[in-house]
Amino acid sequence: MSTSKFHRTKEYIDTVICNCNQVRYSDIEKALHEGTDLRQIEEEFKYIQEVTKASTGCGGCHDKVLAVISELLSH
Ligand code: FES
Repeated sequence: MSTSKFHRTKEYIDTVICNCNQVRYSDIEKALHEGTDLRQIEEEFKYIQEVTKASTGCGGCHDKVLAVISELLSH
């Protein structure tokens, strides 16, 4: 999945970012919008882990989750 461009297509926001816990791009986006305004990527990452359970299994999606958070914070 490329995160270099911000594609607001249904397919894009339905992309599963974390296979272990079936967390989609849209789940991370929703959690970020509902969360506190931390603006520190590592704090946001921990918050997203708590709320969505993304990256709490094998950890293989860590970089993808970080990329999504940073993409969403930059818009
Ligand atoms: S794919 Fe996200 S924790 Fe395994």
